[in-house]
Order: sequence, then C-alpha cells, then structure tokens
Amino acid sequence: MAKLSLRDLDVSGKRVLVRVDFNVPTEERDGKIAITDDTRIRESLPTIQWLREHGAKVILMAHFGRPKGQAIEKYSLRPVADHLHTLIDHPVAFAHDTIGKIPEEIIAHMQPGDVTLLQNVRFYAGEEANDEMFAQELARLGDVYVNDAFGAAHRAHASTAGITKFVRQSAMGLLMEKELKHLKDELDPPAKPFVVIMGGSKVSDKIGVIKALMQKANSILIGGAMANTFWKAEGINVGSSRVEADKLDLARELLDVAKQRGVEFLVPSDAVVTQDIRAGAPTKIASVQTGVEDGWQAVDVGPATVERYQQQIAGARTILWNGPLGIFEIPDFSKGTFAIAQALADSDATTIIGGGDSVTAVKQAGLADKMTFISTGGGASLELLEGKELPGVAALSERS
Ligand code: ADP
Ligand code: 3PG
Ligand code: MG
Repeated sequence: MAKLSLRDLDVSGKRVLVRVDFNVPTEERDGKIAITDDTRIRESLPTIQWLREHGAKVILMAHFGRPKGQAIEKYSLRPVADHLHTLIDHPVAFAHDTIGKIPEEIIAHMQPGDVTLLQNVRFYAGEEANDEMFAQELARLGDVYVNDAFGAAHRAHASTAGITKFVRQSAMGLLMEKELKHLKDELDPPAKPFVVIMGGSKVSDKIGVIKALMQKANSILIGGAMANTFWKAEGINVGSSRVEADKLDLARELLDVAKQRGVEFLVPSDAVVTQDIRAGAPTKIASVQTGVEDGWQAVDVGPATVERYQQQIAGARTILWNGPLGIFEIPDFSKGTFAIAQALADSDATTIIGGGDSVTAVKQAGLADKMTFISTGGGASLELLEGKELPGVAALSERS
C-alpha cells in the first residue's frame, strides 16, 4: 500500500519533526571538522524548503557517525547546522541536546518557517535500541513526523521507526519518495546482466546482503576492505590488512553459494599494498599468489583486478555500486576507485551509485552527471535492491 507523502500533510503552523540523514563525510582541518561532501544535506533541501514555504516549524533530527550512546564532541552535529545555515539563507538553531528542556525551549520560540537541528540522536543509547521512552521523548517535540532519511531507513531505530507510534501522522519526505521511485519502482526487476560492485569499510553490515543479492545479480565484484576478508577466507595471507575475523565462515559460505548458483563472484586478483596509510608512502602490488606480507596492508585493488572488473562492467545493463574499492581519500590509493567510476561513466547501462563515501568518490572524479542515479543510501539502497522492506518506510502511515 502507498505511504502518506509530505504533500498530503497540512503543516501550516505545526511543529514538524523531520528525520534526515546528515551522516556526511568529514575531515579534520586545523583542528576543526570540515564537511568534505554535502550531498546528503543538499538532497534534504527540497523537503526543508517545502515545509518552510508551507508555514511549518521545521525540527530536524539526525545521526552522525557511531558514538554508541555517548555524547562525544567530535560527533556533534553543530558543524552541520552551521553549514545548513549557509545553504538555506535562514538561521538554523542548534539544540545542544536531543531531547528535554534545551530543545523544548528553543522550539517554544520558533516561528513558522524557522529551522532547528537537534543534537545527534545517537548520543542516546535509546536511539539504536529503538527504545519506546526515547521515541516518546522525541515525539513530544513535534506534531507530525516526516522521514526523509532514506540513507538510514534500513535501521529500525527510535527516530526512524519507533517514533511513528507516538505521532498522529507520519509521512515520507520528498527525498525518500525520489529514492524509492528510482530504486524500487524503476528497478523492479533490474535489466540483466545485473552487476553489483561492493567495497568500502562497513564489511559486517554489507556482507550479509550479498547472499540475497546473488538471487538477483549475475555478477558481484568485491573490493575495498571487504576483499581482505575474502582473501583471508581463501587462505591468502593478508598481512595487517583490515579484516573482519568473525565473517570468515560467512565469506567461505558465500563463495560456495556463488558457485552453486552460477553467479560470477569476483574477488581481487591483485592489490596495492603499503606499510603506512598516508600520502607518499611506498606501495607495491601483491597478488593472490604472493599474498600480503606481514606489516603491509591492502589499500586498493590492483591493475589486473581493475581490468577484469572493467570487462564485467562493459557487458552489464544494470550496475549497482556501493563502497569505494580502496582508501580513495588518499590519492595514491584511489586509482582503483576512480577507474571503476570512469568505467561506469562510459557504460550505457543503468548506473546507480549508493553510499556517502562512494558518492563522494564519484563527485571527486567529476563523473556524477554521467550516472543514472546517485542515491544517498549505502546500506539502505543495498537492502532495498535485495528486496527487503525498509523499517523506516514500513513504519509510516498508510495513505487512505
Ligand atoms: P559508503 O559510504 O559508500 O557506503 P563505506 O562507509 O562502507 O562506504 O566505506 C567507505 C570507506 O572505506 C572509505 O572511507 C575508504 O577509505 C574505506 N576503505 C576502502 N577500502 C579500504 C581498505 N582496503 N582498507 C581500509 N579501508 C578501506
Ligand atoms: C550511512 O551512512 O550509510 C547511513 O547514514 C547509516 O549509517 P549507519 O551505517 O551508521 O547506521
Ligand atoms: Mg560511509
């Protein structure tokens, strides 16, 4: 059934609680947190501006990083509030706490069209636990709820799911609608051959979806830190590469399942390795034959792997890419990621890029406008394409 949309709501004069995904990539510059790519913030603007134009008081809720229930200053959303201010040309009040007196007082003084951003919802353990008390505390701050955080819609947390029990109406935001249209309605089923490229660092999050994706994809290409786990599972030495030791059995199982199903499952045949993760550090190429020596670690896919992956990409009709193939933030380790971005740009297939860091890589390569669709969701877009219902969408009100 269809979900209620922002456009169905009467928001005039109301306090509208909007869950957004402001989990943007950042880096430290002169001791300060700088946003390196603001795509997710910009993509939330249509919803924020629609609400402001319709006389709503806009109260934004978001998470940033994984502070695990602790109020850790480096995960404060303050820099995001400052940045949002520059984008909407209207003050953005920042509430130093997520719930309770501090936000209540700010909200009591809001006028229609005003915007407040609450402190990181993950400063409270109740957020990820989807705790009812915490959800209720959040719900008290508004009259209606809008979920525009597509990138976090695969999480059943208090601000993405639990809260809907305690508000009268809950609707999809404009970004949420756009993402679902492109990734669900237009891609069901994907034109074949369907190639999935997976990398990045959130291995334990993403490795689980591979099995389900094998029912849909014709080939799966692995890169990034995830590749190390597969190398290790195959008995290849990985030196001090980043590995998820508790996923080795799962990795072996996936390799077996791929064989049984006739899915092409490609892991790198070579890798760029270094002893030191910094620009200018000496590198060399390791292969499946040599493995990675002790003290060295894999930081990018190697040239032979890039070539094999390019061939797969050239034959595809739908390509989903989530997760950089190497530590692309450091130019010496970015070749694999940028070569794959270029191969996608050159392809005639429907190309979908998901994930905060992957999108950053594509933008840095200057290739964003060559892609069919850039999603703000990483894990969320994977789970959606895998066929799962996203908890953050399921929890919204039905459209009657
Ligand atoms: P996305 O945001 O696109 O969903 P992730 O958050 O899972 O992707 O991972 C992105 C991060 O993965 C990047 O910051 C990149 O530096 C890191 N990464 C890629 N390859 C490796 C590797 N071999 N070892 C360690 N980190 C890696
Ligand atoms: C993301 O960056 O993929 C989303 O914001 C979700 O973040 P999480 O993986 O920490 O839940
Ligand atoms: Mg990321």
